[in-house]
Amino acid sequence: MSDHDRIPLRQARPMAEKGAAGSRLSRRSVLQMAGGAASLAAASVATTQTASSDGPPATSTTRVRLVVNGSARELELDLRQSLLDVLRERLDLTGTKKGCNQGACGACTVLVNGRRVTSCLTLAVMHDGAEITTIEGLARGDELHPLQAAFIEHDGFQCGFCTPGQIMSGVACIAEGHATSPEQIQFWMSGNICRCAAYPGIVAAVADAAGRT
Ligand code: FES
Ligand code: FES
Repeated sequence: MSDHDRIPLRQARPMAEKGAAGSRLSRRSVLQMAGGAASLAAASVATTQTASSDGPPATSTTRVRLVVNGSARELELDLRQSLLDVLRERLDLTGTKKGCNQGACGACTVLVNGRRVTSCLTLAVMHDGAEITTIEGLARGDELHPLQAAFIEHDGFQCGFCTPGQIMSGVACIAEGHATSPEQIQFWMSGNICRCAAYPGIVAAVADAAGRT
């Protein structure tokens, strides 16, 4: 209890005495007062609801244009949807994987305007007009991207769950000039986790593709 809450004993006693005998409040009047307070509270809530229903309706969607793997797409999107969910659930591009959904594993890595991003951590509406590249956009027809081919040659995967994210990250790693040594590749790919520990093959694949691209 704070000092403000304490009532000096000399003041408290008369108030208590008045409450017991001085005010002479009947049970009926107490109930009437309580009923009046409840009515006021109800009226206040009703006013708040009316006021909010009079205002403009809350919008939760907006129109967004994306260029996904070279194709222009225009979508009405929920403001809260991650880029990952839009790719997987609206555009059926399920090659991009949802692992942790909190930025810790790299399975959802895609390229946005050429830069790698963890798509689970970014809202799709933030990328109006952006060019998005996913794993589905790397091959040219039947011809695999050099890094996709290198992953096969070097056994850069086991279960394959992390592989789309590893490859997208590897493509950016090479483009950034961060693939000149195994140590550098390990460092710049460290945001992509492989639960199967296929790291030796992943690093070899990125190094090989960096020499070819
Ligand atoms: S799913 Fe996005 S970082 Fe793990
Ligand atoms: S290949 Fe299984 S998680 Fe990387």
